[in-house]
Amino acid sequence: MLDKGEDILKVIDFVETIHHPKEEQLLFPVIAKQVWLSQGGPLCTYYRGLQLEFDPLAPVRRYLRLFYEQSGISAPSIGEYSWLSEQSPLSIPMEEHFIGHELSVALRFLSNKKNSALYAEFFEIFRKLYSDLLRVHISKEDNCLFVMCEAKMS
Ligand SMILES: [Fe+2]
Repeated sequence: MLDKGEDILKVIDFVETIHHPKEEQLLFPVIAKQVWLSQGGPLCTYYRGLQLEFDPLAPVRRYLRLFYEQSGISAPSIGEYSWLSEQSPLSIPMEEHFIGHELSVALRFLSNKKNSALYAEFFEIFRKLYSDLLRVHISKEDNCLFVMCEAKMS
């Protein structure tokens, strides 16, 4: 969908209502119980290192903070995930799900205010941040998480 230049709101509909809920409700809770998960996938150490050393999501959080200040709306609440812990390798993709969800809520909100200053200031930035985040996220899952799952569960 991203490569075809699909409307970002259609991408969001698919990711936020179908794809991520499927991972969070069906796949991740099962993986979270596996002993092998703590070993991480082939690139987990690399991704965790990037996260700790450079905090690549910091600019996204800064833009979102600015948006919340200017719009007066609050960040969406995060669901409860009994199987999730900070130490778990799944905290890496889940952090991206959470921040992607925040961006999606902001984009849906802005799409109903096309003539506003808020839309002019944030929509294109958030559209790009959401697309970029999704591409990085897909690459991590395809090259690390799902590689490990296929090796361990086949
Ligand atoms: Fe995911």
